Parts: sequence; C-alpha cells; structure tokens
Amino acid sequence: MVQFTLPVNSKVKKGITHNTATVGRNIRTFEIYRWNPDDGDNPRLDSYLVDLDQCGPMVLDALLKIKNEIDSTLTFRRSCREGICGSCAMNINGVNDLACTQNINDLPSRVRIYPLPHMPVVKDLVPDMSHFFEQHAKVEPWLKAATAPVEGERTQSEEQRARLDGLYECILCACCSTSCPSYWWNTERYLGPASLLQAYRWIADSRDQATGERLDQLDDAFKLYRCHTIMNCTNACPKGLNPGRAIGEIKKRLARRSRK
Ligand code: SF4
Ligand code: SF4
Ligand code: FES
Repeated sequence: MVQFTLPVNSKVKKGITHNTATVGRNIRTFEIYRWNPDDGDNPRLDSYLVDLDQCGPMVLDALLKIKNEIDSTLTFRRSCREGICGSCAMNINGVNDLACTQNINDLPSRVRIYPLPHMPVVKDLVPDMSHFFEQHAKVEPWLKAATAPVEGERTQSEEQRARLDGLYECILCACCSTSCPSYWWNTERYLGPASLLQAYRWIADSRDQATGERLDQLDDAFKLYRCHTIMNCTNACPKGLNPGRAIGEIKKRLARRSRK
C-alpha cells in the first residue's frame, strides 16, 4: 500500500545548536541534517554558527570549518573542491548543488543543508550512491568497436567531436537524477537523467559502433520512457548540462529507427 507519511523513525527532529557563544560581525547559521545509523535515533537538524569573516566563500568551506573547529562528527563527501569530482553534491536550501561551487553570499542568511533527496543515507550528508552507479554501469559507458582503428587511432572530424560537447562534461554528481520526480517514484526501473545523458554520450560518438545495440537496450517503457520532460534535471545540473535534451535525442533516434 502506498504510504504518504514518513515512518516515525524518519521524521527530522530539532537538533542541537552548537557554539552559541560565537561572536563576529558576519555570523551565518548553518542548519545541517544529522543522522547516525549506529545510535538508533531519528535524524535531527543541528545548527552551527559560522563567522564568514573567518571562513572561505563557499558552502564547502563552511562545512570544513565546522568539521575542523566545531564538530568533528559531521560527515560529508568532498574531494576536488573545484566542481570536478561530483562528490560534494547535496541539497542546499532546497536545491541540489555542489557545496564547493555554491557561494554562501548568494544564499539567504539561514543556510539549510540536507543530503541529496530520495537516496538512502549512509550518515549525515552522505547518500548511498551504489544504485546510481550500478545504473551508470548498465549503459556500458565505454567505446565499443568491432573493427580495429586505422593506423592506431580512431579519428573524428571537428564536427563529430563537437557533438560530444555538453555530454562529456558530466561529473556524475547525481544532482539531476535526484531532482527528477519520475526517478523518485521509479528509481529501480527508470535509469534517470544522469545515466541517460551518459548513454547518449556514447550514442552520439562517431567512433562507437554499437549504436543499434545501445538503442535496443534503452527501448523500454521504464528505462527511458518514464521521462516526462518535466526538465527539473536540466534546471538542477550545476555544470549547465541538459540531460532533458539528451533524453529527447535518444527518443528521436528510436522514433526515426522505428519509421524505417
Ligand atoms: S526531463 Fe523531467 S522526467 Fe525527464 S529526466 Fe529530466 S526531470 Fe526527469
Ligand atoms: S548531468 Fe549534470 S547534474 Fe546530472 S550527473 Fe551530470 S553533471 Fe551532475
Ligand atoms: S568537492 Fe569535487 S565537486 Fe565539489
């Protein structure tokens, strides 16, 4: 039976306000989702006061300051701190975004941070990405070619190479998939915008020789056609990519093929 309310043990409770004695001219409050699978408690929203005059400009800088100076138990992922690895994706004031490229000064005075929505949580701001990466693997994101390259290389014209622009830059942060209502309701069977953009990246590659096989794999009521062109994915992408358009291109290829 469909359940429309959160299970009691999932309700987010009011948490602890840390370092209330902090003084400074530029104090911001960060409200952060906390959940520890080991203590059996409900999730809670803890508050931390950060003096922005003593902190770097990005949300990730504030999280690192909190972890280093206020509460070492706060858990989150990050690696590159320059929008390349996709690790620090989280929900910041209701929007999926990269903490390392979101400037705190572009946010309201109270910054509320949750993990990416509709994913199981490992701890605090760390979602379990296993299923997301399994779906990525299902589109077989590598070059498939039955013939050997000519003179050791598979060359492309400038025009062929340009068709990959807007596709190859994807950093697999999952901001798009976790903002897609169709993905929320059909996570198990709908591949979601990130994996579909990756699928199209190989369909669009002139060097790949498995286009027919790739389209066969995607021609499915759930894997592809759960996309209803709501375009949340495109609005959410912190790299400015357009997964909604990539999905439309796959649908067009399938439609053209079925008319032949
Ligand atoms: S266009 Fe809409 S339904 Fe399709 S993947 Fe993007 S958000 Fe989801
Ligand atoms: S398309 Fe954009 S939002 Fe989606 S995974 Fe790639 S970089 Fe992230
Ligand atoms: S830390 Fe790598 S994208 Fe933010």
